[in-house]
Amino acid sequence: MTRMEKAARRATPQEIDLQFQYMKRVRDILSDGGPRLAWVVTYGCQQNEADSERISGMLQQMGYGRARAAEEADLIVVNTCAVRDHAEKRALSITGGYKHLKKAKPSLLIGLCGCMASKPEMSSRIRKSFPYIDFVFGTEMLWRLPEILYHVMTEEKRLFFPNAGDPVVAEGLPVERESPFRAWVSIMYGCNNFCTYCIVPYVRGGERSRAPADILAEARSLVEGGCKEITLLGQNVNSYGKYGDDGCDFAELLRRLAVLPGDFLLRFMTSHPKDATRELVDVMAAYPKIAKQFHLPVQSGSDRVLAAMNRRYTRDSYLSLVRYMRERMPDIVLTSDIIVGFPGETEEDFEDTLSILREARYDMVYSFLYSKRDGTPAAEMENQIPEEIKGERMARLLALQSEIALEKNLPLVGKTLRVLAEGRSRTSAEMFSGRTEGNKVVLFEGRDEMTGCFLPVRITRAAPFTLWGEVVE
Ligand code: 5AD
Ligand code: SF4
Repeated sequence: MTRMEKAARRATPQEIDLQFQYMKRVRDILSDGGPRLAWVVTYGCQQNEADSERISGMLQQMGYGRARAAEEADLIVVNTCAVRDHAEKRALSITGGYKHLKKAKPSLLIGLCGCMASKPEMSSRIRKSFPYIDFVFGTEMLWRLPEILYHVMTEEKRLFFPNAGDPVVAEGLPVERESPFRAWVSIMYGCNNFCTYCIVPYVRGGERSRAPADILAEARSLVEGGCKEITLLGQNVNSYGKYGDDGCDFAELLRRLAVLPGDFLLRFMTSHPKDATRELVDVMAAYPKIAKQFHLPVQSGSDRVLAAMNRRYTRDSYLSLVRYMRERMPDIVLTSDIIVGFPGETEEDFEDTLSILREARYDMVYSFLYSKRDGTPAAEMENQIPEEIKGERMARLLALQSEIALEKNLPLVGKTLRVLAEGRSRTSAEMFSGRTEGNKVVLFEGRDEMTGCFLPVRITRAAPFTLWGEVVE
């Protein structure tokens, strides 16, 4: 087996205990100096949001309170994303903005972590060019934050810990969740797929899965604590358990979770189409607690481009899986990711992408302009597509998808759907916002005590990306 294929190493109880000791040491240091406030900024995907909840949990144990803004913080941690160039630029520019805060308060500590901070080259670049950043740690080092922070504080020097190729699964560290009724639960970390455009396998390390018993215990305690929605996270949840020794694959894990007692919904993301099985679809169809929603990124509708992306499925095999899903679950809400302007994408290839949108009839598509990532094979490919062509193709894709999304949403008008109320809408404060089982946003008039409850909502109006409705009392 190569490094990427070995079973995950689990952090030992002694290693975890050591981190708790460091948390206590930091707490002792802070207790001399009055209340301390931390500000955690998160970019990127759900995995990063879940990681930030672990960072916040550890910081809380170390005695940090939550700052309401960067300006009042004594510690700032920026959790970065590297999947596209503009995410990296934004993280660096916001961090640049903290320079003046440090001038005003020299004791302020600034740390950078996440995907961008994982590559040794980037870590050295930050060391040279961003002197106001005190510490950097890669995704593989996250569980050692207490130790890192303790050393930064006591040695009064800048410390840099990019990934070093030793990813572990660390259980039992504290988590501070954003929501009392919706939770992320990581079931695996890393990725072994090496899609040619993607930086993730280089910054999140090889695939490693948590033990089923740990995931089940976490889910059980969440549901007992009133959690209504659990989203299982992994770069490719379908390869969950591949290198484990107890034969529990993803379909089996879902089965075990779906029979836990309590009123809750299970979601998962992301699935790689090459590994999503019919058995998984059957499990989804069989258990009411598994939301009938599937995020199945196709990336392109052209077989030629899919091969160049190293996706290892074809348009036909993908569409046949979608047909099977719709047979078993006619109301399934299907979403996808698309990359526009992959190197060498011709007009004909792009037409194939538009036609797969028409055939798969997605409820929602997350579309991205191809972004060159240093160190990935696609960055070296000839025929990089000019930005104006990418932009023009993106506009056509958005227009088509918006039509399809509206066609999918209009028939929901008049229906009563079960909606998990999330609280006041961020876009219009007089409205309440919630999500259907298919994860579609619904706006309705609500009361604060509805937050975190499942409600029957009759849909009264539909737009491509939003539904409106009224609670059926
Ligand atoms: N350029 C553009 N989009 C990308 N994605 C991943 N890497 C790149 C890249 N280099 C997209 C894929 C993936 C989603 C999370 O981000 O569509 O599914
Ligand atoms: Fe990136 Fe492909 Fe892995 Fe997804 S499956 S994280 S796109 S390499």
